[in-house]
Parts: sequence; structure tokens; C-alpha cells
Amino acid sequence: MSDPAIVKHSVELSENNLPVAESCLRNQQAIYEVLSQELADDAVVLELGSGTGQHAAFMTPRLPRLRWQPSELAENIPAINAWREHIGRENFLPPLILDIAQDLWPVKQVDAVFSANLVHFVGWDKVRAMMAGIGRVLKPAGRAIFYGPYNYHGEFTSEGNRQLDEWLKSRDPSSGIKDFEQIQMTARKEKLRLLKDIAMPANNRILILQKYV
Ligand SMILES: C[S@@+](CC[C@H](N)C(=O)[O-])C[C@H]1O[C@@H](n2cnc3c(N)ncnc32)[C@H](O)[C@@H]1O
Repeated sequence: MSDPAIVKHSVELSENNLPVAESCLRNQQAIYEVLSQELADDAVVLELGSGTGQHAAFMTPRLPRLRWQPSELAENIPAINAWREHIGRENFLPPLILDIAQDLWPVKQVDAVFSANLVHFVGWDKVRAMMAGIGRVLKPAGRAIFYGPYNYHGEFTSEGNRQLDEWLKSRDPSSGIKDFEQIQMTARKEKLRLLKDIAMPANNRILILQKYV
């Protein structure tokens, strides 16, 4: 696969049969550096759209007091379980089946919510449902942290992001890179306000939102 946008989202099997998304290998250290600063060391973190489970696998040994709760659509749960078994850490909690569009999420209150490369992968209807779900499960002053590419004032921030958007829309026309300004407006309706917008490698960002107290 030579198209960089597709490579960004491809998953291969490793030598020991674990699913590996190349994008995770590239972004996990940079994401760890932010999370280790922004989360209380004993936080309970709900991850949405965990994909292969590599972020849980990378973070849980490095943030040993954190409790990381992965979640995904049912079909991706086996991949996360494979990583969980491989890592063998108690703070890597068993993955939950969670569709962000569901009205009821199978979690109690959490200190933080994290997702990587989920917002652009789905349509606005799901992003709105996700914000509403986060509004329900996040404790007051809790943080929602979104890693991925965003547009500013309707403009792509790189040619790679424009290509990624084209590829996303070719598989699901409702998906695509979202506007930073619209994300903030949607979040505000759920009592989440922007705390930080952090530049990350390869024209990605980390948006940190905080629930009103
Ligand atoms: C681009 S992948 C990112 C996966 C992972 N977070 C990562 O960084 O590698 C987007 C993920 O969102 C998940 N997803 C799509 N729709 C979803 C939904 N409605 N609820 C929860 N997860 C969803 C997909 O199954 C997929 O694993």
C-alpha cells in the first residue's frame, strides 16, 4: 500500500500474531509524553475506539498506577484481548464493547476519556453522540483527550491530511477530518470546555477538554 493515508490506517500481524497498526507505533511515545503530564497517576481512563489495543499495551506498563479501560465495537475486542494477554498487566482492564453512538455506556464515572484517530473516522452524528456519552460518564473536572488531525477555519493543515480526508470519505462519505472550532462548540453543549490544543508530530493535535465543575 503506497498511499500514505491508507498506510496510516493499516493493520498487520506481528511475528507473534499480534495486530499492529503502524500509526500507533509512530504516535505512541509522543502521546505517552502528553498523557503522563496531563493525567493524575492513578486516574481511571476510558479509551474509546481502542482499535488494536496497542495504546493500552504501551501506556499500562509505563503508567503503572493508571487503570486503562479499553473499549471498541464488538468485532475488534479479540485484538485487544490478544494484546492484554501478551502484556499481562492488571491495570490493562478487560475491553468493553462500546459503540460511541449507544445511549447507555457500560461504564460508571471515569477520571478521563481518551481516543486516538476516532473523531475523523466517524461522522458528525457519532461525534455528537460521543460527546454526549463523555458528558455522562466523565467526573466533574475530568478530562477528555482527543488525538488526531483537525482542520482550522475549514482548512487542512497539510497535504497528507487532505489525502487522508479524501481516503476517509471514499470509504464513508460522512466521515472526515473535523473542524477544531466545531469540535469545541459540540463539546460545550456537553459542559466540556477546551483546556489545551497541543501540536503533535505529523500534523496531528491533542485536544484536551475539561468538564465543568
Ligand atoms: C482509525 S481507527 C483508530 C484505532 C485506534 N484508536 C488507534 O489509534 O490506532 C478508528 C477506530 O474506531 C473504531 N470505531 C468506529 N466506529 C466506532 C463506534 N461507533 N464506536 C466505537 N468505536 C468505533 C473502529 O473500530 C476503529 O478501530
